[in-house]
Amino acid sequence: MRNCALKLCRQPMRAPSSVFLDFLAPSTVKYSQCRHASTTAGTAGEPKPRYVLSKEQREFMDSALRVNQAGELAATLIYTAQTPQIVRSYPHLRPLMKHMYDQEAGHLKTFNGLVAKHQVRPTAMYPAWEVAATFLGWSTAALGREAAMACTEAVETEIGSHYNDQVREILSWEADAERRGEELDEELKDMLATFRRIRDEELEHLDHAVANDSKEAKPYDPLVDVIRFGCRTAIKISEKI
Ligand SMILES: [Fe+2]
Ligand SMILES: [Fe+2]
Repeated sequence: MRNCALKLCRQPMRAPSSVFLDFLAPSTVKYSQCRHASTTAGTAGEPKPRYVLSKEQREFMDSALRVNQAGELAATLIYTAQTPQIVRSYPHLRPLMKHMYDQEAGHLKTFNGLVAKHQVRPTAMYPAWEVAATFLGWSTAALGREAAMACTEAVETEIGSHYNDQVREILSWEADAERRGEELDEELKDMLATFRRIRDEELEHLDHAVANDSKEAKPYDPLVDVIRFGCRTAIKISEKI
């Protein structure tokens, strides 16, 4: 078993690069591979070598975690600002608003944890997004229930497709790993599952918004277009800054 572990540890690694997401960096993968080999090799066959992310791939994950944290912060603040105005006029929407807020709070907690764990730099725009999201929630709720729902529809359309892009990218790495006879790090697999679950919950919010007359907002098109453009811009900025 010891020989097997040593053999696995000697397997060639792609060139190490520094800084981003150390848990997926070659040095860490090498360590976990040795540890894994010492406990499982010989009982369930040789474990596959870990797929080591390139610098670009780690930069992608770094940006993804930063922008997801910012987006989920914005989502909680939008619902926080909308809920009092909406439930005052439409008390029957209280459980729905609470349900969507609770899910957003869970998403934010997840990304706060991942950002802290992997020492990802939060966006420097955090204070600006706090003000913008609160204003967006307050102003759309002031326009009425339909406008508040149109806001959710617009935001979730952009966020849902953003999560989809991330899922698609990680799946392409999984396919690449398969071709190499390697496998993704367990933590990356967990992140993929998390991104998929959260994407599905965002799309559920979109369905709730449409079911609650988001399309009846007036003026629907300019409102949704402006919010979607704002979301795309905020995502682009948060990826970098
Ligand atoms: Fe969310
Ligand atoms: Fe959402």
